Amino acid sequence: MEFKIKTGDLAKHKTPCLVLGVFEKRKLAEPAQAVDQASGGRLTEILKRGDLDGETGRTLMLYDVPGIAAERVLLVGCGKHKEFTRANYRQALAAAVDLLQRTHAGDALSTLAESIPDGLTRYLALRDAVTTTADRVYRYSRTKEDKQAPKTPLRTLTLWVATRQQVDTAEQATRHGAAIAAGVTLAKELGNLPGNICTPSYLADQALDLASRFDKLTVEVLEEAQMEELGMGALLSVSRGSRQPAKLICFKYQGGPQDQKPVVLVGKGLTFDAGGISIKPAAEMDEMKYDMCGGAGVFGAVQAACELDLPLNLVGLVPASENLPDGAANKPGDIIKSMSGQTIEVLNTDAEGRLILCDTLTYSERFDPAVVIDLATLTGACVVALGKHPSGLFTADDRLAQEIQDAGNDAWDRVWRMPLWEDYQAQLDSNFADMANIGGRDGGAITAACFLSRYTKKYRWAHLDIAGTAWLSGKEKGGTGRPVPLLVQILLQRSGVLPMTD
Ligand code: BES
Ligand code: MN
Ligand code: ZN
Repeated sequence: MEFKIKTGDLAKHKTPCLVLGVFEKRKLAEPAQAVDQASGGRLTEILKRGDLDGETGRTLMLYDVPGIAAERVLLVGCGKHKEFTRANYRQALAAAVDLLQRTHAGDALSTLAESIPDGLTRYLALRDAVTTTADRVYRYSRTKEDKQAPKTPLRTLTLWVATRQQVDTAEQATRHGAAIAAGVTLAKELGNLPGNICTPSYLADQALDLASRFDKLTVEVLEEAQMEELGMGALLSVSRGSRQPAKLICFKYQGGPQDQKPVVLVGKGLTFDAGGISIKPAAEMDEMKYDMCGGAGVFGAVQAACELDLPLNLVGLVPASENLPDGAANKPGDIIKSMSGQTIEVLNTDAEGRLILCDTLTYSERFDPAVVIDLATLTGACVVALGKHPSGLFTADDRLAQEIQDAGNDAWDRVWRMPLWEDYQAQLDSNFADMANIGGRDGGAITAACFLSRYTKKYRWAHLDIAGTAWLSGKEKGGTGRPVPLLVQILLQRSGVLPMTD
């Protein structure tokens, strides 16, 4: 999809569809008022007939509106003007796209971002228009014929801004928004691919492809032999039960000065998690193809950093493996030795994410990181605790927590902080190893984070449990691309390229 910016007389713009906002009760948004005037009051007249009140997400398509150059006019309900929230705004944006996809328009000129929700900046309002649109336009078609695909999909969305002074902000917002959207799309697509296509080797190949597209990006893929040499006994213990060799994908993006410490992102890349010998129940096990969504998030964020040519250094690490039952797989009670030297009693082979992550977190030390953020579909317990709206945030670093929470709010990819107190650590005690890989039923998401914390003492660190946010289940089953928007927001903040106001 392409995004453009226009300013000037709305009535004179030739477009297949002009999108205008309407608030309750039949109150035209400002740009719509201008169009109404140009049409000799036709919009007001039509609204009087009562087909659209302005409730959020309701739409009305008009044809042959006099006095204007647009072929169609799409009126979109934005809810109550006095309570114009970002959620309402995004709902209106999505409704507009859904309707446009069902028409023959193909291109549209949208004025919705001219009504800025309470507390939002113009930059974020415009960026939301881009990211929400791309989000609705994405369709999976790799392994099925997309019979419901729109005959004329939306190809170009042009965002209208009222004044010339707003063009710079709008250009920045669309550039950032498009890069975020492309990262989200990449993460969705990788997530949606089945385990028999998206194997660790497949991910490694995709990483090499990505690196070939950008000068500042290099990738190195560590093979099992190299992991053996590094002493990554925890990671290798998981892949031993699989016929697919594990890969440790290492992206390096150099956008800042040579000596600048990098941000390190670590993403869990379980291309399928059957649980191993502690096998999962059959129901919904297919969804464990999404267990590489942390890794996919790293791919998306790295791609966005490259596309935006961000002035910072970034390392992306994706340990990729399967977790399957097999004669060589981990068995409950097995004791393995991690790269850090700490031993682990594997009491449940289904707690494998932390095993591949702990060695990767130890490996992260060599990059002398400014900060390490890991993202992982780590625990069902996190979904029980928080549901599917926020990702779980775990860190002992209050400043880092604030940074990530702020980024999540700005990017509308929110997190909720969970405790990471010492009090929970004892649940990981083992009689036979330095720690067990599970901490019992209570606070399962927290004890998983506690486990990881034992491998992250040498740098600033935060963990995101994205088990509830990385994909949707049921009829809408599919990857969400989260937490790419959050990660890119953090990178934008750290790069110092965000607008100060506006
Ligand atoms: N990948 C799963 C976590 C998961 C489960 C994410 C369901 C989303 C939905 C992870 O590897 C796992 O199996 N975790 C176990 C940990 C337990 C054995 C301590 C879990 O959550 O049940
Ligand atoms: Mn598991
Ligand atoms: Zn898993």
